[in-house]
Amino acid sequence: MHIEGATALVTGGNRGIGEAFVRALLEAGAATVFVGARDPAQAAHLADEAPGRAIPIKLDVTVPDHIAAAAALGGDVSILINNAGAFHHTTLMTAPDLNAARDEMEVNYFGPLALARAFAPILARNGGGAIVNVLSSGGMVAVPTMGGYSPSKFAGRAATTCIRAELAGQKTQVTALIVGSVDTRMAAHVAGYKEPPSDIAKAGLNAIRRGIDELDTDRMAIEVRASLARDPKALERSMAKMLTAAAITTGR
Ligand SMILES: NC(=O)c1ccc[n+]([C@@H]2O[C@H](COP(=O)([O-])OP(=O)(O)OC[C@H]3O[C@@H](n4cnc5c(N)ncnc54)[C@H](OP(=O)(O)O)[C@@H]3O)[C@@H](O)[C@H]2O)c1
Repeated sequence: MHIEGATALVTGGNRGIGEAFVRALLEAGAATVFVGARDPAQAAHLADEAPGRAIPIKLDVTVPDHIAAAAALGGDVSILINNAGAFHHTTLMTAPDLNAARDEMEVNYFGPLALARAFAPILARNGGGAIVNVLSSGGMVAVPTMGGYSPSKFAGRAATTCIRAELAGQKTQVTALIVGSVDTRMAAHVAGYKEPPSDIAKAGLNAIRRGIDELDTDRMAIEVRASLARDPKALERSMAKMLTAAAITTGR
């Protein structure tokens, strides 16, 4: 899969890992990058950096009309980066209601699924293309401090596997990008070392180029997978301990 000359769409492209994806795609020679943003004005800086190549579009991934409009505009898209994500810092038993957990499912699971469904025929017409779903170590191991978020990323990972199987016939490469802890607004509450967003984007582009189904992008993601294989019960206990920890830290 070639990035040079391709047209891409990045959801949640205005900041954080999404913004890094936009820049990495442009640097790699993508012809056009649609920058999905709830407020396109928040992506204006990227349009300024790459006039005519980075194109902000209004895209709340929970709004079907926005998704339909993106698909109508993005007939040339061959790379879809499902990056937009929500994390509401709630726990399942103590949250006052289910609103946060429902929203995390809407943004982190139904949103990418709806985008994949809308763009699958477009990707097929454009030779197969690639979908990258930006997931989380919290979708590999259940993290009680991430009550609604962690289950939504588990669902996202399962859906990624199903979508890969369904779209194999049309030669669409579908990647689960497993991300640990990254220095963005979403992880502002986390102490310790956090990866630069640009490294995550680079790993994502490598996965596209090399046709990798599931990629751990950073050390935390690799460590979580190793711990899960070694002693899942010990990992579960260490995740539970975070509920009473004074602070959340990457430990480095
Ligand atoms: N940071 C980490 O440590 C980490 C770890 C593992 C996985 N991830 C995943 O990486 C992805 C990017 O997160 P990030 O770290 O870059 O966080 P971030 O800086 O908080 O960015 C989140 C992005 O998602 C957008 N977004 C939220 N709800 C949306 C919706 N309904 N429709 C469209 N866009 C929406 C935000 O838009 P607004 O600017 O409008 O809010 C923003 O652009 C997420 O899927 C996240 O789960 C992050």
